[in-house]
Amino acid sequence: MNIIEIIEKKKRAEKLTEEEIRFFIEGIVNGSIADYQSSALLMAICINGMDYEETFHLTMAMAYSGDVVDMSSLGRTVLDKHSTGGVGDKTTLIVGPIMAALGVPVGKMSGRGLGITGGTIDKLDSIPGFSSSLDMESFMEHLKTVGFVDAAQTLSLAPADKILYALRDVTGTVESLPLIASSIMSKKLASGADAIVLDVKCGSGAFMKDYESAVLLANTMIDIGKRAGRKTVAVVTDMNEPLGYSVGNVLEVYEAAEFLKGTRQEKNLKEVVVCLCSEMYRLSDVYKDGEDSVAIVEDVISSGKAYEKFIEFVRAQGGDFDLFQEKFNNRSVYNKNITVKDIMSEGDSFIFKKIDAGVMGRVSLSLGAGRLKKEDDIDMDAGIVFDKKMYDVLSADDSIATLYSSSKERIKEAEEIFLEGIEIVIGDEAIYVQSPILKLLD
Ligand code: URA
Repeated sequence: MNIIEIIEKKKRAEKLTEEEIRFFIEGIVNGSIADYQSSALLMAICINGMDYEETFHLTMAMAYSGDVVDMSSLGRTVLDKHSTGGVGDKTTLIVGPIMAALGVPVGKMSGRGLGITGGTIDKLDSIPGFSSSLDMESFMEHLKTVGFVDAAQTLSLAPADKILYALRDVTGTVESLPLIASSIMSKKLASGADAIVLDVKCGSGAFMKDYESAVLLANTMIDIGKRAGRKTVAVVTDMNEPLGYSVGNVLEVYEAAEFLKGTRQEKNLKEVVVCLCSEMYRLSDVYKDGEDSVAIVEDVISSGKAYEKFIEFVRAQGGDFDLFQEKFNNRSVYNKNITVKDIMSEGDSFIFKKIDAGVMGRVSLSLGAGRLKKEDDIDMDAGIVFDKKMYDVLSADDSIATLYSSSKERIKEAEEIFLEGIEIVIGDEAIYVQSPILKLLD
């Protein structure tokens, strides 16, 4: 077998065998296949695609290219959730504590943000003292005692994905459905959970811009999960508007805490959280046939137990929750080193018709809350807090949103981008507010 024949086969749009795919993955990890050869094969896959069987073999070869976590010592069904990435998506920080409060163990390995989409590890790292680098022994200990643990993916987890992703990033081959599905699912399979709920985002602030491609990605990942023996379901959710009322690292952690405390629960965030949690509950080993999983999830949120679990989770991983709280209770301290800009409405009785998630992702990037390249530093305090969300009524001099950044220059540029991403209409035109849950697939 040789790599040139494999490249030529895919160039002719032929199906690759399991052995050929394994040969390719082993070759990129041991260095026997050159980057230019891998890039040629990636481009051929990008153009000619892969069927479900090839995508599954690619995923398994990538998942087993490094360490594979074994959580069986817990003797429980361990749950994981994964979002394909969006703007303002802090659901993991909310869903994990809710499930742990329900007695469902969630062991999660998360990534950092890139481009307009944020990453859970960056958000967690904005909590003073929080440690996202855990060895396997501590990971399992937190899973056992707290019930929710979230750590950064180690370098030894699916190393083939790291090599391929870096090549895809510079060869115009990121946007390929089998490559995206295998990249995501290889990390999910290697990180060891028994059951996975996938949140496939769809819209201007997501990888998948249209509904049909989001459903196709969801079905491809469900197929991979099931072939690998993991219970897998997917929810396709809207990402045309940012999720919740904030975008930015520390701001999103604060929103997650407020959500669990019951202080402010934005409608679109609540619908997505409750849907993901009820699906996770149904896949868990505590679920009994006929139970109303939605009511169970809503009850645990309003009981305050999920909020207590959130604090326990933060403290268990070294986070100083009191210091974090203090920053928000005393806004003058938070605002001292940061430039704050309120964006105000100008007229009376307007309806806020559009807040484009893709544009808001760019605003957040320009404020310093995200990174364009993997090695970029980020401003943990930067971001956007919305006072109004889509379909809210605006009066003269209402605040629409506040922008935060450590740099004055960045605020100016961000404000200009922000104004491109909103649309306001006059009057009281009746507008149908769509649910963010577009489709449930299993
Ligand atoms: N997330 C991943 O982990 N990989 C992709 O290819 C796209 C999104």
